[in-house]
Amino acid sequence: MANLTTRKTAALAGATTVPGDKSISHRALLLGMLSRGACTVKGWLPAGDTLSTLGAVRALGIDVHREGTTLAFTSAPLRAPAGPVDCGNAGTLIRLISGILAGQSFPTVLEGSEQLRRRPMKRIVEPLARMGAAIEATNGCAPLNIRPAALRGITHTLPIASAQVKSAILLAGLFAEGETVIEEPGPSRDHTERMLRSMGAPLAVDGLTVRVTGGDHHLQPFDLTVPGDPSSAAFLIVAAACLPGSDVMLHNICINPTRTGVIDIMRRMGAEITIEDEIEQSGEPVATLRVHGGALRGVTISGDDVVRAIDELPILAIAATQAEGETVIRDAQELRVKEVDRISVVAGEMRKLGAQVEEQPDGMIIQGGVPLRGASVKSHGDHRLVMALAVAGLFASGETTVDEAECAADSFPGFAETLARIGAEVA
Ligand code: S3P
Repeated sequence: MANLTTRKTAALAGATTVPGDKSISHRALLLGMLSRGACTVKGWLPAGDTLSTLGAVRALGIDVHREGTTLAFTSAPLRAPAGPVDCGNAGTLIRLISGILAGQSFPTVLEGSEQLRRRPMKRIVEPLARMGAAIEATNGCAPLNIRPAALRGITHTLPIASAQVKSAILLAGLFAEGETVIEEPGPSRDHTERMLRSMGAPLAVDGLTVRVTGGDHHLQPFDLTVPGDPSSAAFLIVAAACLPGSDVMLHNICINPTRTGVIDIMRRMGAEITIEDEIEQSGEPVATLRVHGGALRGVTISGDDVVRAIDELPILAIAATQAEGETVIRDAQELRVKEVDRISVVAGEMRKLGAQVEEQPDGMIIQGGVPLRGASVKSHGDHRLVMALAVAGLFASGETTVDEAECAADSFPGFAETLARIGAEVA
């Protein structure tokens, strides 16, 4: 198990890209396999979670050719996998593919890592069962058993904004009789809707309501280019914004408005982030971000902010330690059911670095301006924690060592090298 060590760093400078967006990379395979024809995907993310999706799609009979970050495959009728499908650590995979498999004429078992088997699945099992799906969880978690059943459209109001749950129901809706309507309490990421619409699916979006009509759709295949992942860029944005004198350019970043909460929040904290050269690419807005380091102030992060920055809250908590005044994160109870309990674990590891963090049931309160000191910290096997703590090490005196650092590659292969390339002190 590899450690990652970072040291106090003066400033960052330079230009870089980040690997392809994880959410879009999962969907390129899962939705592409439902099309009628040949798909190509460029800039695909070859990381732990998305490689699990590649394995799952192959297990369903799709012959995907991969060369590095390029995929080519021709869809074919899905066929029963030879055994249980391994979803690894990937919550997005198990939830989205459940919606697809609930509408197939063969049974499947979905299993996953110990970490995935701790994550709640009732949130998809219940609405899918209401649609008529024969789906059973094991004590509310994976493994999931899915058998063939006829699906019918439903109207479902999500209690918590979640793109994974919304997408699972939408995908099942493609195979259901009649219309499926989903209402959300907040703006979760909309990559499924964008991709399905570009494929010609009968899907309509009106504010926070999405409708899809089931049937035999002949979805169009695509040539898709995946933009850089804003959730990966977030670690570099915060690192640069918190180190005065930094000047970092991040090229080819997805700036879909459902994903840019981190940029808005950092700007509210006083960060200088400019968006340049915006283009539209494969249905997603993409741009260069330029980040200058400087003084930051504490803010309150709540409501839709949380939905639009759900995966960035650990690194925003680290940013808060470098701001003047208090930062309050609330309405973020969802963090407790991510890869790990990202409230208790983030607060606990930050305290080891000397941060003043108060855990709340739905978030945390962080006092800024308290100097951090290097320490040995634990990632708990969570990729985003490895990266958040490694960035904290750039602000801390001495040396910070994060354990199980190889899991950063679940979403950001080459993270340590990228950080070093823009001037971070990485051992
Ligand atoms: C994702 C949705 C989010 C996010 C996850 C990826 C997706 O989860 O945390 O990393 O690709 O749909 P929820 O939809 O459960 O909030």
